[in-house]
Amino acid sequence: MDKKIFIFDTTLRDGEQVPGCKLNKKEKIELALELEALGVDILEAGFPISSPGDFDAVNEIARLLKTTVVCGLTRAVQKDIEVAAEALKPAARRRIHTGIGTSDFHIKSKFNSNREDILQRAAQAVKWARNFTDDVEFFAEDAGRTDNEYLARVVEAVIAAGATTVNIPDTTGYCLPYQYGEKIAFLVNNVKNVDKAVLSCHCHNDLGLATANSIAGIIAGARQIECTINGLGERAGNTSLEEVVMIIKQHQQTLGFYTGINAKQLNPMSRKVADTMRMPVQPNKAIVGANAFSHSSGIHQDGFLKDTTTYEIIAPEEVGADSSKIVLTARSGRSALAYRFQKLGYSFTRNDIDTLYEQFLAVADTKKEVGDDDLHQLAKAQQEKAVTA
Ligand code: KIV
Ligand code: ZN
Repeated sequence: MDKKIFIFDTTLRDGEQVPGCKLNKKEKIELALELEALGVDILEAGFPISSPGDFDAVNEIARLLKTTVVCGLTRAVQKDIEVAAEALKPAARRRIHTGIGTSDFHIKSKFNSNREDILQRAAQAVKWARNFTDDVEFFAEDAGRTDNEYLARVVEAVIAAGATTVNIPDTTGYCLPYQYGEKIAFLVNNVKNVDKAVLSCHCHNDLGLATANSIAGIIAGARQIECTINGLGERAGNTSLEEVVMIIKQHQQTLGFYTGINAKQLNPMSRKVADTMRMPVQPNKAIVGANAFSHSSGIHQDGFLKDTTTYEIIAPEEVGADSSKIVLTARSGRSALAYRFQKLGYSFTRNDIDTLYEQFLAVADTKKEVGDDDLHQLAKAQQEKAVTA
């Protein structure tokens, strides 16, 4: 039987950390309600101790969401945990996400500490959080660069202290997919109480590997992916929700996983986030970019027009995108031109199209894309020629 991968959305926390993407309370609430409708299992609503505004937003989201687990981030600090617990109090389902850096970079440079002290602090933070909820997630910050033997000791200690999910962040986006997969496999095989918790992938995109690493993580045994809409997040961003959801769906037979996300909402959700967070999506972005379902070269257009599956592995309606587009450029061919004329209501013979194609190329060489207005002009001239001939 296929296994469920829990989708933990952190658009409102890690995503909102992007410069320029700051949201006000109303915007956060609107997005939270849409993310619940999209089907995310856990929604990280913010970092309640960070500001009164964030506290209020988390508190209101906690009041409003009905089925999604609402999560608040904390450091491994008692006061942070108490404040997050207070903000999350009205939630039907709440989670405290606490943690500390576990790599030697963090232990030495950030905390001026040592491994044993960090291990104690990690377990203590989980115990504090368990006073407020049974659903506690621990993050081992910079796990991507943490020594696996030590990481296994931390994971075992926090599970023994009551963590029900353990997040293994590749905070700096450093790992290669096989390394991240091996890290998760190491934990699965070496942490004796690992069956008492869900392991979670939280990958950053500094080398463009966040999605690949998350998929490597679930193949190796993790059961939760932390991600954001449009891949927004610190620096180069986080794992993109729409990518992992569609990889899991597309490869369901091979991987044996599923998610609870309503894929038809992916494009509307992406647009909503881009508009609300004032952060446009790059046109070539997988699944939700403006060009994700556009075909512009002659060879591709010809194949696509004969059978869409020659050049599309996903139908645009499956992810709520506009219909596929045949874009006319100087690289387009006759079949694409004929198709576009037909769409505009013209019916030309093969000979007409041959003549029109030469004229089309002359126009196409002068601009990036040939639009409907250009096509109407060409068509009208051709029709007049036919009448006067
Ligand atoms: O990237 C990271 O390590 C984080 C943690 C706070 C979970 O965002
Ligand atoms: Zn992060």
